[in-house]
Amino acid sequence: MRLDRFLANFPQYNRQQVRVLLVQRRVWVDAQPVIDPRHEVREFSRVEVDEQLLQAGRPARYLMLHKPAGCVSATRDPQHPTVLDLLPPDLRDDLHIAGRLDYNTTGLMILTNDGQWSRRLTQPRTKQAKIYLVETEDEIGAHYIDKFRQGFYFAFEDLTTLPAQLDILGPRSARLAIVEGRYHQVKRMFGHFDNKVIGLHRESMGPIHLDPALAPGAFRTLTAEEIAAV
Ligand code: URA
Repeated sequence: MRLDRFLANFPQYNRQQVRVLLVQRRVWVDAQPVIDPRHEVREFSRVEVDEQLLQAGRPARYLMLHKPAGCVSATRDPQHPTVLDLLPPDLRDDLHIAGRLDYNTTGLMILTNDGQWSRRLTQPRTKQAKIYLVETEDEIGAHYIDKFRQGFYFAFEDLTTLPAQLDILGPRSARLAIVEGRYHQVKRMFGHFDNKVIGLHRESMGPIHLDPALAPGAFRTLTAEEIAAV
């Protein structure tokens, strides 16, 4: 919500008073004076007027986890361990997964309670590359590269995948950059060539790279720079 609307919703301020408060630099958001009436106030913002607290702001949380194989990208599952089980209980509250991975896929998983931020990372229109290391059962042909660039028709969703970049690393291994996260997307792309994916590992999502210091199953909070880069 815009800051001027947010303030005018309080019974003690009318629109005229809000304008004055802003011009007089008496409104502070996240410990900074703000004069722009359009400044966005979020559920995470701390808002003060003349040192009087109007909204404390919910703490925003951003975590990266090295997802191991054999756990589900869900917040709950009746049969299998989930990625949330890898976190201490006091950190799990209201987190969601930004870009799921299959049961046996490993690598970078991001968990947050900030939906606006995670959408910037996952929505295809923001064109943030998700980079995967892929191992396949059969050889990867040089002709794959053009097909990945042109896109694959996915009948179920009735769409053609956006251009993807395939770099062949070895006879049965490649690095793939895609900007979407369709259901089983990588496996279905290689499935077009009848080539089964036998190993899949996500290295990065947009500007965020899996920290090499994180062993499978370990996590850390994102740095301020990583959060701001998205
Ligand atoms: N594509 C897949 O097929 N599986 C994943 O886990 C991620 C991307």
